[in-house]
Amino acid sequence: MTREPHAAVLDREPAKSDFLSEVIAGLSSTPRTLPCKYFYDARGAALFQKISELPEYYLTRAELQILDRYSVDIAPALGRNIELIGLGTGAGTKTRLLLEKLEAPVAYIPVDISKKQLQRSAAVFRKIFPTLEILPVCADYLEPIRLPSAAHQPLRKIVYFPGSTIGNFELDAARQFLQRVANHCGRGGGLLIGVDLQKDRHVLERAYNDSVGVTAQFNSNLLARANRELGTDFDLEQWRHYAVYNSAESRIEMYLISQIDQTVHVQDRQFDFHAGERITTEYSYKYTKESFVDLARDAGFDFAQMWTDDARWFGVFYFVAAAPM
Ligand code: AVI
Repeated sequence: MTREPHAAVLDREPAKSDFLSEVIAGLSSTPRTLPCKYFYDARGAALFQKISELPEYYLTRAELQILDRYSVDIAPALGRNIELIGLGTGAGTKTRLLLEKLEAPVAYIPVDISKKQLQRSAAVFRKIFPTLEILPVCADYLEPIRLPSAAHQPLRKIVYFPGSTIGNFELDAARQFLQRVANHCGRGGGLLIGVDLQKDRHVLERAYNDSVGVTAQFNSNLLARANRELGTDFDLEQWRHYAVYNSAESRIEMYLISQIDQTVHVQDRQFDFHAGERITTEYSYKYTKESFVDLARDAGFDFAQMWTDDARWFGVFYFVAAAPM
């Protein structure tokens, strides 16, 4: 991430051509994959919102409980006059809890791939925090992005990355991503990040195989989105959602499984699937406190503190950027 001159709103929404080329590349690879970042069109974002309210999906509630209880401690740890950069902060419920407790923040820069949600939450935040400079950026924060400059120089830049979205990165990608964040924050800057922790596999598998099938809809919306936006011909009835915990890799693996032998057309290409063949759509890594602290250290962050919920299922970690790498 590098700086660019002040802009009120930045629109760096990924182009449709990126979606097409990533679908073709993913379906051509072995094993076949589709990138989970494309879950979040308007329908996917609404389905994810529903997931976060499901009794089985404890992550959002646990993280909210932590913010609710400890934002009074977290805010002073981040310090005064900071620039808060929110990555994938969605509707902003957790960020609001934090901003309310921060001492004189200089600016809030929410970065989200879902443009509608970003516009909506930025409008709400402008009403709640009328004196705070808010600079929303619609972008895929997985890629290097240029961020607008705040009108006032902050004492420190803090990246806030809630929701355990870091769990959706493979380990090398997570390390590289955190390295970029550390470089952007600069020495003394910080990272506040929500991370789902390892726990009983049954709890995990229930969270990704909910009893009313919202997660299944969320998963197959990836195919529906490809049909809508790219004109592919996935037959949604012929794909089944499957999620399982791989304890050797410490991750939930989410798949769409072909129910029959079938052919799918993506523009001028065709892809043949046999019955039982899987497309990997998402990994969701689960960390221990130690394994996440090690990962962040490799990326250039010194551990400062972790706050957790009653069940110790979720951690909100605060790291300080060491010397740039
Ligand atoms: C956004 N992310 C942290 C969610 C997760 O739990 O990995 C996405 C999700 N996939 C299925 N349910 C929720």
